[in-house]
Amino acid sequence: MRNRVLFAAIALGLGLAAARPVSAAEPDPAHGRVLAQRLCVSCHVVEGAGTDAAPTLAALAREKSDASLRLATASPHHAYMPPLDLSQPDIGDLVAYLRTLRRHP
Ligand code: HEC
Repeated sequence: MRNRVLFAAIALGLGLAAARPVSAAEPDPAHGRVLAQRLCVSCHVVEGAGTDAAPTLAALAREKSDASLRLATASPHHAYMPPLDLSQPDIGDLVAYLRTLRRHP
């Protein structure tokens, strides 16, 4: 009986994992780019456009680890950057986009 319950729990877990949409599991840098161009250009340069109120996103992407990019995007901890209240998938997409900037000057 105990085994049967365990089996049911595992089957349910596998079913849920399979049902999970790909977009939730894999960050989408193209969407992150759209978000950055909408939310970050008022202070950071994003691919040549924006202001010099803050370091360019490309420079930050090269300087910072993935963890600090995620932290800064999820909960800005300095005075000038406003809380952006982004969802977890949006944060993942933004960080995925920032990582692509490391390949560009
Ligand atoms: C209102 C202006 C403003 C907006 C909007 C803004 N930032 Fe910033 N951000 C700043 C400033 C200013 C700094 C540098 C602060 C410093 O040097 O301490 C900064 C720093 C950062 C850092 C580095 C943080 C660290 O660990 O030192 C990251 C990463 C970053 N911003 C990402 C983003 C992203 C991604 C967006 C858009 C989703 C964004 N910022 C939107 C002003 C802004």
